[in-house]
Amino acid sequence: MTTVSQFNNREVPQHSPFNLDNDQAYRLWREQKLAQYPGSAQELIVNVDNISALSSDEQAALTRVCAKANSVIYRSQTATADKRVIRALGEQLGLRHLDENICADGDGISGLQVMPAGSRHEGYIPYTDRPINWHTDGYYNMPEHTIRAMLLHCVSDAASGGDNAIMDHEMLYLLMRDQDPDMVRALMETDVMTIPANIENGVLIRQAQSGPVFSVDPVSGNLHMRYTARTRSIEWKDKDIVRQATVFMQDLFKQGHETIFQYRLGPGEGIISNNALHNRSAFVNDDAANKHRLFYRARYFDRVRGTDLQQIYRLGESTCCG
Ligand SMILES: [Fe+2]
Repeated sequence: MTTVSQFNNREVPQHSPFNLDNDQAYRLWREQKLAQYPGSAQELIVNVDNISALSSDEQAALTRVCAKANSVIYRSQTATADKRVIRALGEQLGLRHLDENICADGDGISGLQVMPAGSRHEGYIPYTDRPINWHTDGYYNMPEHTIRAMLLHCVSDAASGGDNAIMDHEMLYLLMRDQDPDMVRALMETDVMTIPANIENGVLIRQAQSGPVFSVDPVSGNLHMRYTARTRSIEWKDKDIVRQATVFMQDLFKQGHETIFQYRLGPGEGIISNNALHNRSAFVNDDAANKHRLFYRARYFDRVRGTDLQQIYRLGESTCCG
């Protein structure tokens, strides 16, 4: 078993707003986060002309929205089936290092669509028309393959359904810390959530992964979240405070919240996100109407350029005694 080696709270820098013992830095960050957070999914949308050649204004607008909510929705006329265009879009926003996961099609970009039984994707929910529960991408990845951003592009939509909901993981952190910082502290423990090993036909596909839900990137200081709402094949640490935290999240997702944005991507539209929480509703294709949902998904080890914590917030200088 391997353990995700990002900072837990004992190791989070003292000046960080994500250090649970620094209430002053947290308050400062919290105030700015809430002040600029979008009020609706519509406010996440940026119209762009050509996704393979963004203007500097379009790039700036995409970055600005993503900095506020960790996600942005672009709307273009490019319902392309050419993955090179998707790769080019990401590169313009600093997304260069693709995760070549076992489902990506050799070029690091997965074509998500309903696949027939017997295909190599059989058993993977993204390749069905079923709903996908709340998660962040790559929650089962090795630490060195931490997914910091993802891009979802709609080539064609279904006859009905297939909506996405997105929740900024920083907002979830904020709501939970306001409720009870000890829940956040418990979720920063490095053994709080374990994904058992993936073994197929006796072959080890992926080692068991034990790690925190919330962690702070040692280099950038950004908050990272590792989560899945699925209950099967997940082992949570056996502690009351951990149970409280998981119930807190489940209740939030079930009841809804003003910071959760729902959107149904149409052809040419997409989501670029610093791996915020997201889900997908079930959908129905229609052969007669030629309505088949096809989305391209790219996952990156990079974060969207210009959206690092220190680039967005005035977090104050260290006021040490010296
Ligand atoms: Fe996902």
